[in-house]
Amino acid sequence: MTHPPLLNPMFQNVIDMDLTSTQLLANEMLSIADSSAKVAYLAAAVLFVLSLAGLSKQTTARRGNLLGIIGMLIAIAVTIVAMLSAGHTMAVYTMMAVAITAAVIVGAILAARVPMTGMPELVAMLHSFVGLAAVLVGISSHLEPHATVPSGELLIHDIEIFIGVFIGAITFTGSIIAFLKLRGTIGGKPLTLPGRHLINLTMLAGCIGLGIWFCQEAHTADGSHNENGQAMTALLVMTGIASLIGVHLVMAIGGADMPVVVSMLNSYSGWAASAAGFMLKNHLLIATGALVGSSGAILSYIMCAAMNRSFISVILGGFGGGGGGPAAAVEGTVTEFSIDDTIDMLEESNSIVIVPGYGMAVAQAQHSLAEVVKILQSKEKQVRFAIHPVAGRLPGHMNVLLAEANVPYDIVLEMDEINDEMPDTDAILVIGANDIVNPAALEDPNSPIAGMPVLEVWKANNCVVMKRGLATGYAGVDNPLFYKDNTQMLFGDAKQNVDAILRALQGS
Ligand code: TAP
Repeated sequence: MTHPPLLNPMFQNVIDMDLTSTQLLANEMLSIADSSAKVAYLAAAVLFVLSLAGLSKQTTARRGNLLGIIGMLIAIAVTIVAMLSAGHTMAVYTMMAVAITAAVIVGAILAARVPMTGMPELVAMLHSFVGLAAVLVGISSHLEPHATVPSGELLIHDIEIFIGVFIGAITFTGSIIAFLKLRGTIGGKPLTLPGRHLINLTMLAGCIGLGIWFCQEAHTADGSHNENGQAMTALLVMTGIASLIGVHLVMAIGGADMPVVVSMLNSYSGWAASAAGFMLKNHLLIATGALVGSSGAILSYIMCAAMNRSFISVILGGFGGGGGGPAAAVEGTVTEFSIDDTIDMLEESNSIVIVPGYGMAVAQAQHSLAEVVKILQSKEKQVRFAIHPVAGRLPGHMNVLLAEANVPYDIVLEMDEINDEMPDTDAILVIGANDIVNPAALEDPNSPIAGMPVLEVWKANNCVVMKRGLATGYAGVDNPLFYKDNTQMLFGDAKQNVDAILRALQGS
């Protein structure tokens, strides 16, 4: 039985025409939105490149940061618009809104609260989130492979998933171990298991085997998704092994090499993000991940060169533990200085070099120190700062603190620029630094920091070390500098002592 038409055929034609044109209009708008999103993503990627270029110099760092923020705002806005136009259910939007709001609040509170000295821990923790995200994106991409991938590209997609989850899992657990080491929850001594390279190689070989199994099992012969669950088993077992590799790699790295580990994990997190970008077919994520990955790798390389370490040896671990034999015993007599002694020494000196370290950051002595420098300069003395590449707890830590205290850039010199001038220097003030001025790095081949270039402050006529006691620094290595003939110790909190020096100089 045929039903009578609900509408007059003439009206039906008009409605059909309207529907077709509405559909065309909607398609047209979707295509415009897609192109706009691509242009916006490109603009964001260019801003990220300009941001990195700006961050390479102190004078342009502020602008570099601003460009990065604008790029990230564009990226987030475009992603949210794309998400809203994707036609999800209300429940999905609600979950996303709750997750984003919670993340924004937690992130803002953490960033506002973290002290400068706690930044490496925070950065390590953030790297672990990127790693975890890559693992979760990979697993969910495997669970829903047909959503975005044409059947001809399934194998490539499977390889992307496998590599993304592999890098993500290493980054996740490696970053957690780095976080715990930086926090001091786990000691800085490297864990050197017998046959550790063989263990790593065996785990890597296991992962490659699981990768082959995963790619074979992920799809049936006709290219459709294989529901037998074996691929998921391979993926999860590999995730477990890669997580162990992450733990083992970072546990094997000694305290003094932790700066390289942080920048290396930064690089890994970039590659993990890039892999997630391939899985999600998101070009901006691919580009941004590649930028982070390559810049982190370059930074790791530069830091290795600065610390006289081989990049490969640091990555494979086991460094920072010394040359095998026991480190030389450090003993002698310590000469103590008072504030008055220090003032006398400064008054008698023409060339003065200040070496800041982690203790200056802890004490927040940089502002008083900047005032001390101004007074000394007004007395016609040449005052300069010597910065070690790994002073403090993050790259550029000392430069940031000195810039914050408005110390002019032209008196802040890198280690290579000033080390040769130490013998011609009248007085050195070491403020809260320890490992970066430890002569054992050059004099004791069995020292855990052997071979690391240090600021050769003991070569100056006089050296005053300001710290609270004779405690070791981050690498946990005793420091023979404290017992040298031309070294004097000014004990106490760096801020209190610098304040006392400032008051005395202001009164003189
Ligand atoms: P450290 O070797 O860590 O020595 C800092 C010294 O500051 C300590 O020995 C401590 O001695 C003293 N100190 C702490 N609080 C103080 C205060 N309130 N007043 C005065 N002194 C204070 O620092 P460093 O020489 O800058 O070397 C950096 C180390 O950190 C290197 O081993 C490096 O590899 C590692 N590291 C660096 C980074 C980066 S990227 N820069 C990242 C992670 C690790 P007292 O307790 O006796 O006062």
